[in-house]
Amino acid sequence: MSGARKAVSERERQKRVAAERAVMYVESGMRLGLGTGSTAKHVLDVLGEKLRDGTLRDIAGVPTSRATAEYARTVGIPLLDLDDVQRLDLAIDGADEVDPRLDLIKGLGGALLWEKIVESAADRFVVVVDESKLVRRLGEKAPVPVEVVPFGWRSLLPHFIDAGARPELRMAGAEPLMTDGGHHIVDCHFDGGIEDAAATAQRLRARAGVVETGMFIGMATSVVVAGAEVVVMQSDRSETTGEDT
Ligand code: A5P
Repeated sequence: MSGARKAVSERERQKRVAAERAVMYVESGMRLGLGTGSTAKHVLDVLGEKLRDGTLRDIAGVPTSRATAEYARTVGIPLLDLDDVQRLDLAIDGADEVDPRLDLIKGLGGALLWEKIVESAADRFVVVVDESKLVRRLGEKAPVPVEVVPFGWRSLLPHFIDAGARPELRMAGAEPLMTDGGHHIVDCHFDGGIEDAAATAQRLRARAGVVETGMFIGMATSVVVAGAEVVVMQSDRSETTGEDT
């Protein structure tokens, strides 16, 4: 196996190990938020296996994208509509970057809006990443995806530049990407990273036409990080929800 392929398969192994650890938070009867992306897919695999072997029973989940809904069906996870439950016990999802405060960038997979809606409705939000996602400052490696209404999207570019970003419309082939919610995404690059994540998130959002940003500030209750070993980082918020380590 080539060095590059070895690194990819090691990354996938880490994601699977992190997913197994995150699913330890799931109990029978829970209503779950089901994340989107390659790490979240491992979570769905593990949940499906545990439903099939009877370790977990009566689990149902709200998917954060059409792709997740489709994959959850193939692995046998019953689905729910968020409008039918309103509150969820737990959401589990991947992330593109995690900083030391456990603030996140999400949305490189294009699902940030539904992810934020579902994960905001969950009592606990467990994030699952491999160690390559850890950064000192958000924006160091990944852009901040910002979901925008297609109408007049170009008029938002000066607003993003004023906020310190280098904006770039995300394309899907020759056309602007269309999210599940029917919006476009502008990837906001912050060369060198973002100094004040909370202030930048507020600033990016403060304009008609911006639907939501991929900055998930103060939302994660735990982050499961897989590297040579698995480390679970807890936020202060997890103390009030009684999480273990
Ligand atoms: C989807 O829109 C994203 O928020 C994903 O959760 C994030 O991009 C992580 O994806 P991977 O697990 O594929 O890296």
